[in-house]
Amino acid sequence: MCYTARMNLQGKRILLGVTGGVAAYKAAELARELQRAGAHVQVVMTEAATRFVGPVTFQALTGEPVFTDQWDVRIANNMAHIELSRTADAILVAPATADFLAKAAHGLADDLLATMCLARECPLLVAPAMNRQMWLHPATQRNVARLAADGVAILGPESGEQACGETGMGRMLEPAGLVDELADFLAPKPLAGRRVLLTAGPTYEPIDPVRGITNLSSGKMGFAIARACRAAGAQVTLVAGPTALATPRGVTRIDVRTAQQMHDAVMAALDAPPRTDAFVAVAAVADWRVASPSERKLKKSSSHDVPKLEFVQNPDILATVARRADAPWCVGFAAESEDLEANGQAKRIAKGVPLLVANIGHETFGRDENELLLIDEHGSRRLPRADKAQLAQALVAEIAQRLPRP
Ligand code: C5P
Repeated sequence: MCYTARMNLQGKRILLGVTGGVAAYKAAELARELQRAGAHVQVVMTEAATRFVGPVTFQALTGEPVFTDQWDVRIANNMAHIELSRTADAILVAPATADFLAKAAHGLADDLLATMCLARECPLLVAPAMNRQMWLHPATQRNVARLAADGVAILGPESGEQACGETGMGRMLEPAGLVDELADFLAPKPLAGRRVLLTAGPTYEPIDPVRGITNLSSGKMGFAIARACRAAGAQVTLVAGPTALATPRGVTRIDVRTAQQMHDAVMAALDAPPRTDAFVAVAAVADWRVASPSERKLKKSSSHDVPKLEFVQNPDILATVARRADAPWCVGFAAESEDLEANGQAKRIAKGVPLLVANIGHETFGRDENELLLIDEHGSRRLPRADKAQLAQALVAEIAQRLPRP
């Protein structure tokens, strides 16, 4: 799914630091994507970075002069490091070489970018990019740990093919991923210090070892909400049914198949400290499972006999959580096809939850867009049709407002 909740970048001043690695060529695309998201981008390059990509490229893309030298006389008071870093909302160094990380970890200030990082009042984010041996070297790992302890956000790296021909950890995150990370980083943090547990996706109920019953839930809405909760500052655990979706960064994911496994994983997460503040049940949980799944594949017999399946009820995870003595604040979902508000209100009361979110229109499964109706004790409120990521952000803002203070 394309993550379009990038509105947090609108009007933000981003100082993009480019250091001397091959991945510097990707910084040009990064600058472009940041601008597309509405950010104002000012590029500062190290001398080594200019060996990989010319400053003119960034100047043409951003429409701003590129700074490379601490002795630049274009800034009236000759203090480029102060002027540029003070007006920024964030400094993003991408790619960040092993050398840059070492410098930043030790507070060196021997070029413009390093000096700016030291003189800044805004957050610093770095996207490491280097050969896997350089990344794994204890000195680099020490420096990264030092930077993280100093409050620097470390974005990536990821594993994959490297310019040197080797494969391993050290690839810079792709520009689109970095923009999403920065957007999340700059998002308001109304859920800071809160723990949120979610279910998402379908469940799969076996008939025999190779056949089963499932549904068309893609998990997109639940994953988008998990991501938005994390961006809002929460510690997030996501119990996911079978889906091929990528785990949102920073989210703890527990994969399950059946409703019973989902139930057990949810209860185990609730029992584990620290206390869960909110439970958001987005999963399309199968209401029934086959009473006795066959241990062997059912054979098609020569006669016209068809197997007769007997079903038993699955546990209602949401209702069970809402009834616990230590129940977190609960949000349920509903896919009603008619009389949305009345049926939704009845379901909210039956499940014993303060907020029920109804999908407007029945064909939302698998789509990137949705439209929601929020139903609580006071009535209902519509969240108009939008990308699921944007809706997730709006929904998380509503949850944060309603969540009782700890
Ligand atoms: O009863 P219904 O399936 O319509 O309720 C939907 C809501 O209840 C969703 O939030 C869903 O995740 C949750 N649910 C559950 N366990 C079930 C069935 C539904 O948690 N067995």
